[in-house]
Amino acid sequence: MTGTTSSNSGGIASARIAALREREAAAFRAARPRSEKAFGDGLAGYLGGVPMLWMQDWPTPFPIMVESARGASIVDIDGNRLADFCLGDTGSMFGHSPPPVARAIRRQSARGLTYMLPSDDAAAVGKLLVQKFGLPRWQIATTASDANRFALRVARAVTGRPKILVFNGCYHGAVDETFVRLDNGRPANKRGLAGEYRDLSRHSKVIEFNDIPALEAALADHDVACVVTEPVLTNCCMVEPTPDFHAELRRLTRETGTLLLIDETHTISTAPGGFTRKHGLEPDIFVLGKPIAGGVPASVWGLSGDVAERYDRYLATKEPGYSGIGTTLSANPLQFAAMRATLEAVMTDENYDHMERLAVRLQAGLTAAVERHALPWHVVRVGARVEFVCAPGPLRNGGEADAAHAPALEAAIHVALVNRGVLIAPFHNMMLVSPATSRRQVDRLVVAFADIAAELAA
Ligand SMILES: Cc1ncc(COP(=O)(O)O)c(C=O)c1O
Repeated sequence: MTGTTSSNSGGIASARIAALREREAAAFRAARPRSEKAFGDGLAGYLGGVPMLWMQDWPTPFPIMVESARGASIVDIDGNRLADFCLGDTGSMFGHSPPPVARAIRRQSARGLTYMLPSDDAAAVGKLLVQKFGLPRWQIATTASDANRFALRVARAVTGRPKILVFNGCYHGAVDETFVRLDNGRPANKRGLAGEYRDLSRHSKVIEFNDIPALEAALADHDVACVVTEPVLTNCCMVEPTPDFHAELRRLTRETGTLLLIDETHTISTAPGGFTRKHGLEPDIFVLGKPIAGGVPASVWGLSGDVAERYDRYLATKEPGYSGIGTTLSANPLQFAAMRATLEAVMTDENYDHMERLAVRLQAGLTAAVERHALPWHVVRVGARVEFVCAPGPLRNGGEADAAHAPALEAAIHVALVNRGVLIAPFHNMMLVSPATSRRQVDRLVVAFADIAAELAA
């Protein structure tokens, strides 16, 4: 979710964008009479006519009313079949209902869904988390937002420091401390925040990604408990780290006694152990949500041995009572069954090889279309995650990423893609390749994108 204020139009005349949008909106409607009728002016009984308010943010005239989804396809109630490259914005990164996960859910459904006690699957998952991601001590939560929130409590508890540091343009879920941005260079609450009465920048520092001098200055006061970051920013277009960024980030956090939390919720697209394993990062805290249970709500957060020991010591001195960590339905047996199946049978090297191969093909196809039509755009990829950006690249930080957004143009392209049989993520131009995605689906997306690019560039 971006909340951009950018007025970029990607080098395309606004009249041309408006014409595309209007024509494609009409085509979308014409193909979906049942959906339009079912949705009406909004679904009855819901605030804003949708079960989650952000469902209003899809660029289509009304949300796609889903009949079913399987593998990398999604079918609406009018019978339109789409190749799904949104994949629930990563929740279904491994495809809809991966067969091993579906079997595990069926099995567990006969054995109880929540009991606040461990099980054989819980024992197996603990070992798998250590094996796959390297950190030795783990906890389970239900959303990545929760995992980040809980991990930040631990960071503050063990360091005794009040502040956290995030990078401009970041998104880590519904985590209050992270809702800060640079507004004309000054830290401020993110625009659009609802019901926030505090100045969040009092306890959260925010600087640009890839800015080592700013990081050094921000950590110099020794008041930051934890730096929280994705290894590649994926929530504001896509911003890759400069070659020395992660080494410097780790050096400076270590030198100042600051913890480093790496949020792999999106960048787990990189490889089975995430960007962290592939690039040898050494986080103190590791967070992963969304696809970890194949689409069943679950998240995990892991601690290094050092942080775990310090937290044990802290717990020995803490007054009894609520820690502020934990929700009733977290660590339930359905999550464990689905996580075990995902970790054992879905997040495999073979599946990642397939995802990477097709994502490379997708990136090459989109890049060729951009170049053929001399559009001032670029395409970026982190493993199975590909994004086209309607501005020149590479982007170095969240400020540049914000300016690169082209909201009207992107909305028109998204609807035009749907009308050509492909769905990509709303809010930005993200496409994920799953183990179930076929070469034909990738080629379909490339052809659709090239067709739209040709029209826009003509
Ligand atoms: C990097 C990152 N962390 C955390 C979250 C929050 O995930 P959830 O909405 O499942 O809590 C998101 C959501 O997009 C995310 O992109």
